[in-house]
Amino acid sequence: MLAVKLKDTYKDLDGQKVTMQGWVRTNRGSKKAGFIELNDGSTFSNVQVVYKPEQTADYEAVSKITLGSAIEVTGTLKATPGAKQDYEIQADSVEVLGASDHEYPLQKKRHSFEYLRTIPSVRPRANTYYAMFRLRSVLSMAIHRFFQDRGFVYVHTPIITGNDAEGAGECFTVTTRADDKYDQDFFAKHAQLTVSGQLHVEPFALTYRNVYTFGPTFRAENSNTTRHASEFWMIEPEMAFADLSDNMDVVEDMIKYCINYVLENAPEEMAFFEKAIDKDCINRVKAVAESDFKRMTYTEAIGHLEQAKDQFENQDIFWGMDLQSEHERYICEQVVKGPVFLTDYPKEIKAFYMRENEDGKTVAACDLLVPYVGELVGGSQREERYDVLKKKMDDLGMNEGSLDWYLDLRRFGGCRHSGFGLGFDRMLMYLSGVQNIRDVQPYPRTPRNLIN
Ligand code: 4AD
Ligand code: MG
Repeated sequence: MLAVKLKDTYKDLDGQKVTMQGWVRTNRGSKKAGFIELNDGSTFSNVQVVYKPEQTADYEAVSKITLGSAIEVTGTLKATPGAKQDYEIQADSVEVLGASDHEYPLQKKRHSFEYLRTIPSVRPRANTYYAMFRLRSVLSMAIHRFFQDRGFVYVHTPIITGNDAEGAGECFTVTTRADDKYDQDFFAKHAQLTVSGQLHVEPFALTYRNVYTFGPTFRAENSNTTRHASEFWMIEPEMAFADLSDNMDVVEDMIKYCINYVLENAPEEMAFFEKAIDKDCINRVKAVAESDFKRMTYTEAIGHLEQAKDQFENQDIFWGMDLQSEHERYICEQVVKGPVFLTDYPKEIKAFYMRENEDGKTVAACDLLVPYVGELVGGSQREERYDVLKKKMDDLGMNEGSLDWYLDLRRFGGCRHSGFGLGFDRMLMYLSGVQNIRDVQPYPRTPRNLIN
């Protein structure tokens, strides 16, 4: 018997006997005929299994197969163009490979995302997640393609690290003990989960020129928002001899490439999001792929915010402030109406490694802000001058030695270089229109939420 997956099912198989395995989405039986919507995991579409008393063995038993059960169907495949499903199988037999009991939590009706998050065993089978987690896979491939086609070397930076790359103090401690005696712990020093692979990828950029890391990162920010997760994935390219403007060019090219790639390689999933989540998502992202991303300095942005002060909850607008999400959204949604790079932030509100500008007040930073999501990318040109970086680290009290290796890179052929971090999960929100970061992640981790 020809075992097929729906994804590979083409017209040649029309009229042939096939065997297909999958999970039951719906099952409706009557006296004369019954219908199972079967999803075999290979594609978003279902296949319709038609069973009839005169053709199908154990008709009664088949009509009682419960939702969620794993089955194997053998029968004749028919193309049914124009019908809800493109194919149907006229079943000779249906064998239950794994029955689902009557407490199967996914019923035909629409469930809330909050509820679905509480049932991790079957959550990926709900339509939105089914589409999302394949989109996640396709987008990962897009990222690798983009960089690999351009000769970037993929570097695996460590998950366990001895330093807080962002210096923001938002690290999870790694310990084998329940108390806080790190000094007696496994590594004989304070170990933590990485917040960013950047510092560890920089030596590779000063070896291979163009590199990237793409992996999980962890932040112990106790902010319960729809855009922050405690565990999320980040793409961090790093490029030798590149300045801030080159850096922004790469961000823009990468995002456009990713949009085109998913439209081409996940068309069913994107069509689903357009139908069920965000009525305009395909046109919206297509327009982004065809637009020129604007660039604006932080100082200019402050000017815009001062003029629109009254609209904000936080009306205390001044040069030097850290922008809040309402301010960022105002700039990209109201002023620019599209993606915008904000550049040259005050040095006090940015990380220690960013290159100080000639004015002595700002650093060569770029954040990409986009409508709906806010900050999608954070990047900068790095401080390559040993003395300037050393002084900065000393001033910030970062002199306990754990970053000497990082500083040393400036002594051994350290030169102009730049890089950025793209929040992978936020990119998925941007593409799909899904509003909560918890709903783009297979196993979301957020404060007070670790259900499995
Ligand atoms: O702006 P961030 O903190 O930059 C860095 O970590 C740099 N070391 C990157 C680099 O230059 N190599 O984070 C980068 C991006 C943000 O713009 C955002 O999209 C995402 O990572 N991000 C988060 N996504 C989900 N949950 C969180 N808690 C996030 N924090 C940052
Ligand atoms: Mg940032």
